[in-house]
Amino acid sequence: MTYQSPKGVFDIIPERNFEKVNFQCSELWAFVEKICKELALAYNFKEIRTPIFEHTEVFTRSSGETSDIVSKEMYTFTDKGDRQLTLRPEGTASIARAIVENQLQRKHSVQKLFYLGPFFRYDRPQAGRYRQFHQFGIEVIGIKDPELDAEVISLLMNIIKRLGIKDAKLQLNSIGDTESRESYKKALIDYLTPLSDQLSKESKERLLKNPLRILDSKDKQDRKLLENAPLISEYLNENSKQHLGIVCKNLELLGIPYEINPHLVRGLDYYNQTVFEVVTGNLGAQNTIGAGGRYDGLLAKLGGQDSPSFGFAIGIERVILTLIEQGVFEKTVQGPSLFFIPLDEKSKLKCMELLQEVRLENIQSEIFHKNFKIQKGLQMAFDENASFAVIIGEEELAHNIVKLKDLNKKTEQTIGLNDFSSVAKNLFKQ
Ligand code: HAM
Repeated sequence: MTYQSPKGVFDIIPERNFEKVNFQCSELWAFVEKICKELALAYNFKEIRTPIFEHTEVFTRSSGETSDIVSKEMYTFTDKGDRQLTLRPEGTASIARAIVENQLQRKHSVQKLFYLGPFFRYDRPQAGRYRQFHQFGIEVIGIKDPELDAEVISLLMNIIKRLGIKDAKLQLNSIGDTESRESYKKALIDYLTPLSDQLSKESKERLLKNPLRILDSKDKQDRKLLENAPLISEYLNENSKQHLGIVCKNLELLGIPYEINPHLVRGLDYYNQTVFEVVTGNLGAQNTIGAGGRYDGLLAKLGGQDSPSFGFAIGIERVILTLIEQGVFEKTVQGPSLFFIPLDEKSKLKCMELLQEVRLENIQSEIFHKNFKIQKGLQMAFDENASFAVIIGEEELAHNIVKLKDLNKKTEQTIGLNDFSSVAKNLFKQ
């Protein structure tokens, strides 16, 4: 009996094909994660890790009962203690809960946090959309200045640039402060109420409960009706216009191109003011590789102090698909630096000793265990994409030497056994 992983999830596995890297290649994942973390640290963010599941209410209260995530996509279950729990569909709500619970703001009112890990949404799987997916996320708590919005967006854009992604477009909008949204909500209700018979069943319900959610509808007829709907930009008050203006000015200052997309509203209820998405042309329908915005009211909603907040999350799967699609990776997988090939039992003991020495110097090294046949060993060294083969046999031991074969240049040199470690260290100095 063999088993397959459930629909919409996948394994991340080592890649053996060095010419063509595929989506599940763990080295590629490590590369993307490293760049995200490196830049977050440069921007002075600290890591936070929260549990994979939370009390369901953490998400229903944050994202909104009528959001797609809460109403359709959550993996919710009752545990043996009769608790209602949910596998986290996103990070922001969990981080907000953790900040409040751990009283992180007691000492430092400003919190700059990053996270990386799996998230879960029950949706129809397709390329770029999975039931378990991974996000790298950033949350800043405690700063209301619009300059911060631009600063955090610049982190996202710099990650994308450093990864080598081409043609990523930043789309920006403001959904205003509460006052602006209230007057817009009224205008939207006035516009949609006479058309309500033509709306989908879901949007009809949303018209009563949460009219702004209708803007997210994927129903064709709804989308048509929305074409002539009023735009939030027409209802922004002075405060909201000014906020957006400063964000734009700072993005320009930092040399970050953007376009204002007046239709951008985002699918979660906690946002206000700045919202944004980064899209690429390579992913078809699932073309948003990262997204976020301001969420000034969320912490207070979860029992914390009133804290202006801003953040984003990158979908790692979509980043990786884009990198592959754009051919950024041709040969990323790192083979061992040294590949030891012993030619008899006694030489193998020597190889084991040397292997230990170089590994403790962080030189990636491997040994051929299968047999003592040099050709087989060399073949495996090539297959593993090794840089050098280290060959030791009876003759080498007798003369106190090793043979070092450069597998790329196809050259060979002889080194004294006692000098081996220092030669290796020099070769792979970082
Ligand atoms: P989101 O737009 O729901 O925002 O997700 C962010 C990113 O996660 C998306 O742009 C996409 O790249 C990726 N993503 C979402 N769902 C899937 C899926 N089913 N399969 C693959 N990738 C997916 C949030 O989650 C907010 N918490 C972002 C945020 C942080 N806002 C403020 N701070």
